[in-house]
Amino acid sequence: MPQAQSPTSRQSINLAQKASLIDQRWSPRVVAEMNEYQFKVVRIEGEFIWHSHLETDEAFLVIEGNLRIDFRHGSLYVGPGELYVVPRGVEHRTAAEGEAKLLLIEPRGVLNTGHEGGERTAKNDVWI
Ligand code: NI
Repeated sequence: MPQAQSPTSRQSINLAQKASLIDQRWSPRVVAEMNEYQFKVVRIEGEFIWHSHLETDEAFLVIEGNLRIDFRHGSLYVGPGELYVVPRGVEHRTAAEGEAKLLLIEPRGVLNTGHEGGERTAKNDVWI
């Protein structure tokens, strides 16, 4: 069940602290919702799989570490405090040498593996 913050909550969400609570990599955890969007923290290391999201763009904000995003025609790096939005339908692969902690912003229901599915698909709507 969604656990959106109560209007009377006076507790802010510390993204790095939330990410540090996650016990496994590549397993996004929801920390907040805004309308139909979710804010998810995730810890990653190594390479993910190639995939795309046909219905939505996908935003990556780096909290700690360095994120590499591979595209079929090249790669880019996103550092701490930096943001990048992958357009819908564009094939991508996320990666990090050493651990990176990220915030993902995307509509509720988006799977981490997009339309690829498979063993690396994480359970959705898990809050932390
Ligand atoms: Ni993606």
